[in-house]
Amino acid sequence: MKFSKKVVSLHQRTSYRHEKMKKIALMILAIASCIGIKAEDGSRLWLRYDMVQKTRVSGPECIAAEELRNYYTGDKVSLVIDPTIPDEGYRIEGTTIKASSELGLMYGAYAMLRGEKGTSVPYFKLRILNHWDNLDGSIERGYAGRSIFWDLEDPQTRRNSGQWKPKPINAQLIKEYARANASIGINGTVLNNVNASPMMLSTIYINKVKEFADILRPYGIKVYLSVNFGSPMTISAKGVNGGKPLKTADPLDKKVQAWWKAKAKEIYTQIPDFGGFLVKANSEGQPGPFDYQRTHADGANMLADAVKPFGGIIMWRSFVYGAAHKGEDRVKQAVSEFKDLDGKFNDNVILQSKNGPLDFQPREPYAPIFDNMRQTKQMAELQITQEYLGQSRHLVYLAPMWREFFGYVSPTKLVGIAGVANIGLDKNWCGHHFSQANWYAFGRLAWNPNLTSEEIADEWLAQTFNVSNSEALKSMMLRSREACVDYMMPLGLHHIFKFDHHYGPEPDGFKAHYPLEWCPVYYHKADKEGLGFDRTHTGSDATSQYREPYCSLYDDINTCPERYLLWFHHVPWTYRLKSGNTLWEELQARYDRGVCEVEDFVRIWQEAKPYIDEQRWQETNERMQHQLENAKEWRQVCLDYFGTFVK
Ligand code: GCU
Repeated sequence: MKFSKKVVSLHQRTSYRHEKMKKIALMILAIASCIGIKAEDGSRLWLRYDMVQKTRVSGPECIAAEELRNYYTGDKVSLVIDPTIPDEGYRIEGTTIKASSELGLMYGAYAMLRGEKGTSVPYFKLRILNHWDNLDGSIERGYAGRSIFWDLEDPQTRRNSGQWKPKPINAQLIKEYARANASIGINGTVLNNVNASPMMLSTIYINKVKEFADILRPYGIKVYLSVNFGSPMTISAKGVNGGKPLKTADPLDKKVQAWWKAKAKEIYTQIPDFGGFLVKANSEGQPGPFDYQRTHADGANMLADAVKPFGGIIMWRSFVYGAAHKGEDRVKQAVSEFKDLDGKFNDNVILQSKNGPLDFQPREPYAPIFDNMRQTKQMAELQITQEYLGQSRHLVYLAPMWREFFGYVSPTKLVGIAGVANIGLDKNWCGHHFSQANWYAFGRLAWNPNLTSEEIADEWLAQTFNVSNSEALKSMMLRSREACVDYMMPLGLHHIFKFDHHYGPEPDGFKAHYPLEWCPVYYHKADKEGLGFDRTHTGSDATSQYREPYCSLYDDINTCPERYLLWFHHVPWTYRLKSGNTLWEELQARYDRGVCEVEDFVRIWQEAKPYIDEQRWQETNERMQHQLENAKEWRQVCLDYFGTFVK
């Protein structure tokens, strides 16, 4: 295969014994240095093929033909249109790729380049990245530089005159972005932050969206936009209210309905295959239907009517708290607000929910909204950007976390999957070279949620670092999420991050002027008796939102899995865990284990040095040293703080 020169296999080992590795390293160092490892900056992601431009390709002239001609090292490939193959799928037989469309051929070509054989059909129809990019070029929870889509031509003018003028787009970069996504099967992208600026729907920005759509379309990627529910009150729509913004955004108001219809028409005139809208309403200060005593269904259906004639969809987020059920345990509020609306949404509305009921923590039990909405289409929202998992400074491979989620929420219940992107203008796209693996894994799991974390890590390592069968590097990736849980928030602890930026520990965090649900002390409830949030039937009763057997399992301290213990129970310090340790002893052991794991990752990376190109090795190494310091800080700060409660 072209991409995998198989420079070297890091020797398989399970015990990570230092001496053994040293010997092997020396043995293969010679081979590696003979071959010569080119300096790389990570900008080519997992698509590090050399240009060959020689392969003869028969069949339709399309992206598949172009990619194979340029990069495939065999002599000849045949591309065949075969209507019996399901939409977007492909079949690779020897040097023939069959598919029912050019799009399927394209997916087949990328699969062939990475060495795949056989038939494959995407599991989810909707495989969408969510960019939390703002029109001023900043990114909410972005850790890899500024937005690849948006920036202002002159920020000063905007400040002075309030005029928005977007910068010209970087067409080459957007094409590379399209190609990277297509190579892993992503077929949709939301171009702006869920905390959406109403400006997004102004004509000047819709024109920009068309430019993006034109570049992304050949790669099978549809564009979607996040919309601000209050937009009609700021922006005008052609032919509505004499071209002036409205005084209301009430979804049952006829003018508001006309406004959204006119806006949808304007968008679809420019972008006939526009995907639809993503909406965050009545959450964290965003406007929404509650502002007019209407329901989420009223709001979502009004928008759904507007895009329906054009085949568009509405992805309505269930990430709501502090609105109609203010004061209730935050993890219960989504179910409380949406349960009674089950069955009341139009058929082109999809409820989009985060994997856990709180907010992308290193570990959460699954969100029970997936159990409670039985007649509503649902999508899962995963976070690729590591807001709460060390951002772009920690090596944390997220596939195991997402696979864990699918263990509770069957993919059969979902019509799609969305991932909050970790992409920015940094040379290597994601900040940390290993964060690229999370973008890759998201795409691969959206295509096939039955792939294992291990298979995906293998594929990614082989393509990204030219190392195949690298048990050491793979093991580091596979253990990294559990390590993060251990050194940040073991045993079901959650949300004890520093305020606002969410990097580093602040278990004593409390600010009287903040909503209580933003304060760490609200979540761990440490006191002289014990630690953890009582969510059982004698506490907040969040356990009752789960289907059986989880409802009963989680409710009983004796059957609650230890990884969720402090999520569901307020546990006495002297309570004995399965290990025989008391809670306090176990907490210390877990924090220690987390730090030891990172020490081991650092050691593995040192040993991998001869096989990795200089720049990527160095940049990763610096981040890993920092990760280790930060893991120690977590251990120290949390144990010092919790220790003050233990007698
Ligand atoms: C988190 C995150 C916010 C984001 C929100 C959301 O709370 O910190 O920045 O806007 O999730 O998903 O809407």
